[in-house]
Amino acid sequence: MTKDLQKSALPQEEMMNVVMVGHVDHGKSTVIGRLLADTDSLPEGKLDMVRENCKRNSKPFEYAFLLDALKNEQAQGITIDTARCFFKTQKRRYILIDAPGHIEFLKNMVTGASRAEAAMLVIDAARGVEENTRRHGYFLSMLGIRQVVVLVNKMDLVDYKESVFQDISQQYAEFLRKIDIQPQAFIPVSGYEGDNIANHSDRMPWFKGKNLLEQLDEFQNAVPADLQPLRLPVQGVYKFTENNDSRRIIAGTVEAGTLQQGDQIVFYPSGKRTAVKTLERFNDSCERPFISQEAAGFTMTDQIYVKRGEIACRANEPAPHTGVRLRVNLFWLGKARLEKNKNYLFKCGTAKVSMQLEQVERVVNASDLSCVNRQYIEKNEVAECTLTLDSPIAFDLAGSCEASSRFVIVDSYEIAGGGIITEALESEHFDKRNIRWTAGSVGIKERCQLNGHKGLIVWMTGLSGSGKSSIAEDVERQLVAAGIHTYVLDGDKLRHGLNSDLGFSQQDREENVRRTAELAALLEDAGLVTIVTLISPFAEGRAFARSRSRQEFVEVYVKARLETCIKRDPKQLYRKALEGQISDFTGISSAYEAPTEPDLVLDTDIWSEEECVEVLFNNIMTRVAE
Ligand code: ADX
Repeated sequence: MTKDLQKSALPQEEMMNVVMVGHVDHGKSTVIGRLLADTDSLPEGKLDMVRENCKRNSKPFEYAFLLDALKNEQAQGITIDTARCFFKTQKRRYILIDAPGHIEFLKNMVTGASRAEAAMLVIDAARGVEENTRRHGYFLSMLGIRQVVVLVNKMDLVDYKESVFQDISQQYAEFLRKIDIQPQAFIPVSGYEGDNIANHSDRMPWFKGKNLLEQLDEFQNAVPADLQPLRLPVQGVYKFTENNDSRRIIAGTVEAGTLQQGDQIVFYPSGKRTAVKTLERFNDSCERPFISQEAAGFTMTDQIYVKRGEIACRANEPAPHTGVRLRVNLFWLGKARLEKNKNYLFKCGTAKVSMQLEQVERVVNASDLSCVNRQYIEKNEVAECTLTLDSPIAFDLAGSCEASSRFVIVDSYEIAGGGIITEALESEHFDKRNIRWTAGSVGIKERCQLNGHKGLIVWMTGLSGSGKSSIAEDVERQLVAAGIHTYVLDGDKLRHGLNSDLGFSQQDREENVRRTAELAALLEDAGLVTIVTLISPFAEGRAFARSRSRQEFVEVYVKARLETCIKRDPKQLYRKALEGQISDFTGISSAYEAPTEPDLVLDTDIWSEEECVEVLFNNIMTRVAE
């Protein structure tokens, strides 16, 4: 039914998603059927077909049957929990989302299958405000949908009496006020007879307000996504290493804003900065900026380490929040209850982190708004609570970019809940940059005082056989003799324990470097002069290691010509690599990216081992004495 409309929908046309909520018996389908018919949005012949059908079965024609007929068609294509209808007014196109029940509706809203900017809430005039009516209002409030029109339907059944309409409107307005919703309008309608849907009913001359279509056109579209600050959650970083192509492309979907060449970019939560060097489009022009909802790729002017889950933002636009403690409105749909002291997976944008329930502020009975005071959330309950994440993410608050302000929670591989982020909370456990924890209450200062010197990371990179380990061992001995708390993390040794599951593929080396960098950062935090000897052949990995350091990071390039290393070959590994017995051997069959701006170069081709040891020892002593 919708194909033609969808096909002709031009991107510049205004579009609005409206959700229809209300008890099924309150006549939702009839109102929708009427809306579609009165806006000429039905496929040709459909209305006649349904009328014909009714006649054949001796049933009086109802607009609700229209919707059923349309739904049947949709169901043949794909199975969806919510039906979508399309209609158009003078002002814009509408996507009408109809949910069969409130759980399906919630599931769709929460998991992102449906997004709505506005809602129509239907109440049966003959039955008045019921438990479900209140519950639906509450859900809208919890989902952050603030544009609501309330339809008091089936006015034909109450003789179009103004008093009935007024009573219901007053009663429900009072409830909505408590949950922070101020409906734009209450409209008395009859879906069955078509009163006040697209016309001004002369059966209710006492009603001077707008009809439904006019009211819908009054709703405000959110700020167009392209005009919002850039939010580009990083989906992946792709490297091209073949044919001298050294591009590293950051890829993801532009969820809001636009991106162009030359833009100054900040990645959150890491706070790393760079600029867009080139835009990358597959088989298409790379000149045109990326706009909202486009799959984007770009390269950076700096070789910084960025990972999936970060959000690329423009430096001159409002930044997202970063942190580990979030106040949220949460809908729980999981079989098992959401409880404290259990790990869940939290997904927001492309970020995926482990989380725990910190505190339930209140579990709310959605119909009478009474609060239950307990620290777990049962299936189908709605709660306001605080979540703690294991590592920081970047996010926005409800009402801005949806992709970065909504989340889902996974429990045992299934989406078990979700909701919107309402507040960014301070964390006692994270430092101001919110990117790294401080162990317990003991800080760097106290550790430095205890040790008598600061901690730092000396990262020695170089080919196998360049002399890293021998130099490190001697420097360590001299430092310890000088009263400096020192520890060497030797790549070869780590590969027998912590990293024994890793080989030498690029991926494994990256992981080798990552783990070692994290370990080094811990030792540095503990106050040690941490000397790392790792080939660490890729600049990106070394940059990552630098980014983990909290005090000082010294990149030492232990330089030796490949020929020299082959000649030394203490472990006979080069011989084996040259004979093809070992694959992916650094310098022979695997790349080594020499540091371009190391803090110190120890050239073992030119200097003796003693000279290198002396230079490095002195260098470290000057730094720790600061
Ligand atoms: S890194 O590339 O992942 O940083 P790392 O320093 O941990 O390397 O380990 C390098 C050591 O592993 C070398 O000193 C060498 O003894 C041994 N080794 C075994 N196979 C290889 C290989 N294919 N490439 C490099 N080193 C290897």
